[in-house]
Amino acid sequence: MSGKSQTKLFAGLEEIVSLDEPLADHTWLRLGGPATYYLRPRNVEELTEVVHRCRQAEVPMYVLGGGANLLIDDAGVRGAVVHLGQGEFLQTALVDGGLRAAAGADMGKLVLRCVREGLSGLECLTGIPGTVGGCVKMNAGGAFGDIGNIVENVQVMTDDAEVFTRHRAELAFAYRSTNISAKFVLGAEFRLTEDDPHRILQQVKQIWIYKKNTQPLGHRNAGCIFKNPRGLSAGALIDRAGLKARRIGGAYVSEKHGNFILADKGAKASDVLKLINLVREEVYKKSEVYLELEIEVW
Ligand code: EPU
Repeated sequence: MSGKSQTKLFAGLEEIVSLDEPLADHTWLRLGGPATYYLRPRNVEELTEVVHRCRQAEVPMYVLGGGANLLIDDAGVRGAVVHLGQGEFLQTALVDGGLRAAAGADMGKLVLRCVREGLSGLECLTGIPGTVGGCVKMNAGGAFGDIGNIVENVQVMTDDAEVFTRHRAELAFAYRSTNISAKFVLGAEFRLTEDDPHRILQQVKQIWIYKKNTQPLGHRNAGCIFKNPRGLSAGALIDRAGLKARRIGGAYVSEKHGNFILADKGAKASDVLKLINLVREEVYKKSEVYLELEIEVW
């Protein structure tokens, strides 16, 4: 597409579009090339307009949440990366029986708000990075519980810009997956119960201590790289294959937890991808288990 048609595509939406936006700044791994278009709609109307224009011009759309579980190729993304992290998409509100939060709301902040309000349910997400949209779409969670257990309803938008609400009875949550097929999660309502803030805070602290002891927090990473195979732990399998600290270029397997890959300054997305393949091969050789990715690769 020529530069001129590039700018014309989103004419009138200049305030929310950037061209050739470096995506590394928007992911936790800080890796990856630029996006042809980077769009930051502030409300459902702007998102609707963005979706219509992309559809008309047949530009593929990618939805970016907090970038916590994402590896972007060094070549970047040819298409429109839509980030729901402004305006209306950050709103949260107490509702009868729980809390409503828009797609871009930060999960960590939400957990702390629940502690303050004395609302129990979301604390199982302590230490899980990401936004409401991403966490709901992939049923984020861990040993302490999954977000799906407390989702009351989800508001979504299809890639035709149709908006509707899916209620609990129509939703199915499984290990790191859901039956939400719509392109965009716009927001969700969580069913929470009143509890003593001190008790909830105790639980949050315990989870943090567990994670601090077992995971390389504070380093550039994308959380767990692989899903746990049924009944097994990917981290333990990687550990057993002797892969801790294994390095390719600027990417290496964490010494603390085998299912984390860390990226040094100067690392490339291709280093991480090569290391992922090496880990898969070695684990397969040792245990005959094929590890499936938990992170998304663009
Ligand atoms: N283990 C090892 N070596 C390792 C790592 C783990 O032997 O290098 C063993 C542990 O000792 C333990 C078992 O494997 O016996 C399970 O490890 P852990 O408790 O750390 O949990 P996990 O199954 O590896 C899951 C989630 C994490 C979440 C934690 C805690 C997945 C893929 N991972 O990890 O989620 O933080 O439980 O709730 O479901 C993520 O989703 O990004 C993520 C990090």
